[in-house]
Amino acid sequence: MGHPAVSGQGAVRQGASRAYDAVVFDLDGVICHTDVYHYRSWKSVADELRIPFDETVNNRLRGVSRMESLDIVLERYVGEPLSHERKSELAATKNDRYRVMLGDMTPADLDPAVRTTLDELRSRGLKLAIGSSSRNAAFILERLGLGDYFDAVADGNHISRSKPDPEVFLLAAEYLGVDPSRCVVVEDAEAGIEAGSAAGMYTVAIGDAAEKGVGDAQLRTIAELTDVMARLES
Ligand code: BG6
Ligand code: MG
Repeated sequence: MGHPAVSGQGAVRQGASRAYDAVVFDLDGVICHTDVYHYRSWKSVADELRIPFDETVNNRLRGVSRMESLDIVLERYVGEPLSHERKSELAATKNDRYRVMLGDMTPADLDPAVRTTLDELRSRGLKLAIGSSSRNAAFILERLGLGDYFDAVADGNHISRSKPDPEVFLLAAEYLGVDPSRCVVVEDAEAGIEAGSAAGMYTVAIGDAAEKGVGDAQLRTIAELTDVMARLES
């Protein structure tokens, strides 16, 4: 059964008991702007290999694991086939550069609107989780001062299939002890919206995914999420 659309008179169930118990957030590009650091670090690796790399390619990397991202970056590589060792080396170089950028982040890099939105949702009794393909998720959350904020964190270290596979979102729901159909997922990646739908969750798009018009609802800013949740609950 599908989820109610958030817009349109009468599209949301009226007077029903709580429809959703939890919100599962993607991390990169939703909670923080690390998507820009992903872009810069991949771009530096691509430039050294003389591979064209731009925002269009970068958007395809959203939600996708590190090694799968490398395969996408290498689609436009011209030269001798690269060995498995060389590919691992390139992914490690990208990650080292990315981690240097992450290391410079502080709690001041957390958008106050993100913090306010999370606190507001929590005060309404919703459980909050992270569902991210990143293996750096714990480090990022710690840098932002959110190390012990979420009720559950499912990330790239816990899964074998990255988005669009629903594994990470299903795991987040399991960690929370909430049925997937009672979870809302917030995503900036098309692959992430696909993963959320495949998990049976209500999907809310922001950033690149919202611009593409995918998802059950689209946000211009994270602050709009409280309105979307209120409308789903009313
Ligand atoms: C996702 C990003 O959150 O994490 C992807 O959207 C990235 O672009 C993936 O490739 C894996 O990240 P990491 O930190 O494990 O290299
Ligand atoms: Mg993302």
